[in-house]
Amino acid sequence: MEKFSLKGKAAVVTGAGSGLGYATARRFKAARAKVVMADINSKTAELAKELGSYFIKTDVSCEADVENLMKSASEKLGGLDIVVNNAGIICPEELLENADKNTYQTLFNVNVMGVVYGIKYGQKYMRDGGTILNTASNSANGDYAGYGPYIMSKISVVGLTKAAAIELAPRNIRVNCICPNTIDTPMAYVDGCETELQVMGIQTPLARMCKADEAAALYHFLAADDCKYITGEDIYIDGGLKAGPANQMIDAILTSLKK
Ligand SMILES: NC(=O)c1ccc[n+]([C@@H]2O[C@H](COP(=O)([O-])OP(=O)(O)OC[C@H]3O[C@@H](n4cnc5c(N)ncnc54)[C@H](O)[C@@H]3O)[C@@H](O)[C@H]2O)c1
Repeated sequence: MEKFSLKGKAAVVTGAGSGLGYATARRFKAARAKVVMADINSKTAELAKELGSYFIKTDVSCEADVENLMKSASEKLGGLDIVVNNAGIICPEELLENADKNTYQTLFNVNVMGVVYGIKYGQKYMRDGGTILNTASNSANGDYAGYGPYIMSKISVVGLTKAAAIELAPRNIRVNCICPNTIDTPMAYVDGCETELQVMGIQTPLARMCKADEAAALYHFLAADDCKYITGEDIYIDGGLKAGPANQMIDAILTSLKK
C-alpha cells in the first residue's frame, strides 16, 4: 500500500474557503481523496471548482446546515471517511472586566457548537474506521490577556475531542484535535489581535508563524490509515512554544533589564 495515500477516501473540510481549511482540502486532494469543501462564504465555490472538489454552503453554527452538509456530502461521495471540523472565528481582544455576553455566545456558537454538530452528523454518515479532526489552537493551553472567549472555545474543542474519541472507539473511528500556534492566514491579521502578531515571533522558539501548508501536513498524517493508533489527542504544532522560552525572548528581556 502507498504510504499516507488517501486514495478513495471521502472527506469533508469546513472553513475550506480560506487559510488552513483550504490548505487541508488541497493537501487531501493531492493525496487523492474526494473532498467536499464547506464554508459560509459562497466564494469558496470557485476554489472548489479549481480543485475539482464540491462546495456546500454551510454555516457550522446552524445545526440544520451541518446535518445537510454531512448527508449531502455522503450522497455525493458515496459515504464519509474523514471529517475536518475546522471553521472558526476569533474576536478582538476583550478583557474579562469588559466581558460581553454576545462575544462569548458568538464564539461558542461557531467554534464549539460547530464542532459538536460536525461530530454529531459526521459520525452518523461516516463508515466505521473513519476519522474526525477538530481544529483547536495553542490557545487551548492559555494565551494573551484579552483572549478569554477564544481560549474558552478552543479548550472546549479539546474536551469534545476526548469525549468523542471514547464514544466512537467501538466503531474504530479516531478523533483528534490539532492545536496550531499562529498561522499565516487572514485570521492572524484580524483587527484587534495585534498583540499576538507583534510578539509571537519573539515568543516562539522557531521565531515565525506556522504556514498553512505546514499545518495541513499534520491533518494529512492524522487522517491516513497509517496513523491508526492515535485517538483522543490534542496535538500541538507550535514551533516549540510549549517547550520553553525562546532564546530571542530571553535576550530581549535581558537587554531591557540592562537599560
Ligand atoms: N490563523 C491562526 O493563527 C490560527 C491559529 C490556531 C488555530 N486557528 C484555527 O484554525 C481554523 C481555521 O482558521 P484560519 O486561520 O484558516 O482562518 P481564516 O479566517 O483564514 O479561515 C476561516 C474560514 O472559516 C470560514 N467560516 C467562518 N465562520 C464560519 C461558519 N460559521 N461556518 C462555516 N464557515 C465559517 C470563513 O469563511 C473562512 O473561510 C479556525 O478554527 C481557527 O480558530 C487559527
